[in-house]
Amino acid sequence: MNEIFTMEDICKSYYTGYEELKVLKHVNLIVYKGEFISILGPSGSGKSTLMNIIGCLDTPTSGKYTLSGINISETDDIQLAKIRNKEIGFVFQSFFLLPRLTAWQNVELPLIYSGIPKNKRKEKAVDMLHKVGLSDKINNLPNQLSGGQQQRVAIARALVTDPTILLADEPTGALDQKTGISIIKYFEKLNKEGKTIIIITHDINVASYANRTFNILDGKLSEQVRFSNVL
Ligand SMILES: Nc1ncnc2c1ncn2[C@@H]1O[C@H](COP(=O)(O)OP(=O)(O)O)[C@@H](O)[C@H]1O
Ligand SMILES: [Mg+2]
Repeated sequence: MNEIFTMEDICKSYYTGYEELKVLKHVNLIVYKGEFISILGPSGSGKSTLMNIIGCLDTPTSGKYTLSGINISETDDIQLAKIRNKEIGFVFQSFFLLPRLTAWQNVELPLIYSGIPKNKRKEKAVDMLHKVGLSDKINNLPNQLSGGQQQRVAIARALVTDPTILLADEPTGALDQKTGISIIKYFEKLNKEGKTIIIITHDINVASYANRTFNILDGKLSEQVRFSNVL
């Protein structure tokens, strides 16, 4: 009903030469509108592989993935790009800002792909930078911003199209602890405003801000039972 996506028995393998590397093993996951989910696992456990499938950057080897009612396993690359642009806002560990573009020009980028007219784009980008607390940095280049500020620009860029899901892969991985926590608290605020958020992390402290936490270990996903759920 209020499901944003469902993953049913998702497996993903990579093939190098004749070798099959099974990375995701029979993953089942349902995410509902308005949830704040964390996926916690050590390096190499398959977190980014899972994120790439959730974010329609890659397709599973087997299993069914349905996002906003669309069977992703059956869509071609062009459709996949359209769905991705509409449904997903990405935030990455290393920000991925374009170094020669100012903060507002970076935030504007997804609006170009969405076909929003030029005069509207700047207005929306600046407005989004205001929301993430960077009104005074709109004309700065990425190297004129701190790590935390760069990540806020990346968050503004992820949100400017008002995507269904905000998907963040190790969003605090390149930040000091205090800045990382301020970013997670910002995600918490966005979630309270209604945004569905999924963060992928190896940091248990970061994961604990979410309402539901899943563990991924050796490609197997399981929900973490909290004491508050047990008692
Ligand atoms: N494109 C790829 N081709 C082959 N192996 C890959 C590819 N991407 C990831 N892997 C392997 O899959 C495993 C899981 O990787 P990844 O999902 O990036 O883990 P995590 O994000 O949890 O660190 C690792 O063993 C990695 O080497
Ligand atoms: Mg990773």
